[in-house]
Amino acid sequence: MPRFPQRLLSRVLRHVWIALVAALAATTMLAACKTDSGSSAGAGGGGGQVVVNSDAGVDVYLRSCSRCHGSNREGAVDAPALDTVRISSLGDDALRMTISYGKGRMPAFGALTQTQVDALINYLRGLP
Ligand code: HEC
Repeated sequence: MPRFPQRLLSRVLRHVWIALVAALAATTMLAACKTDSGSSAGAGGGGGQVVVNSDAGVDVYLRSCSRCHGSNREGAVDAPALDTVRISSLGDDALRMTISYGKGRMPAFGALTQTQVDALINYLRGLP
């Protein structure tokens, strides 16, 4: 076997290996986060809302987001409308980042639990 393809093969294998390890780490972290927020939402007692659906999402939206984005997500002078077109152009990661860390003149909502953020995203995406 000539040397070149062999080197190439080992490089490709190394990348595959790194990707696998990264994916595994991400899955483990995600699983840990899910369990964690689930139990803290229950223990925290904040209304005991642990069901991830858009009903809970509407609640969170009206409490935290509507004063700027409007009660029907129509937006206002300052804040953009959060209609389906805009929301579908953003991935879950981008939405989570914006909600947890803020963006531009939008404040961060780092105190929301994972469950609340999930529900909020379901609501914004128009999911049940
Ligand atoms: C104090 C007013 C204010 C509140 C409260 C607020 N936002 Fe915003 N939001 C903004 C502004 C201003 C922008 C535009 C930010 C920019 O691009 O500079 C924005 C942008 C966004 C965007 C678009 C980001 C993008 O990349 O296009 C999303 C999604 C969003 N907000 C979601 C939310 C959610 C969900 C909540 C409730 C948890 C919320 N906002 C609460 C003011 C607010």
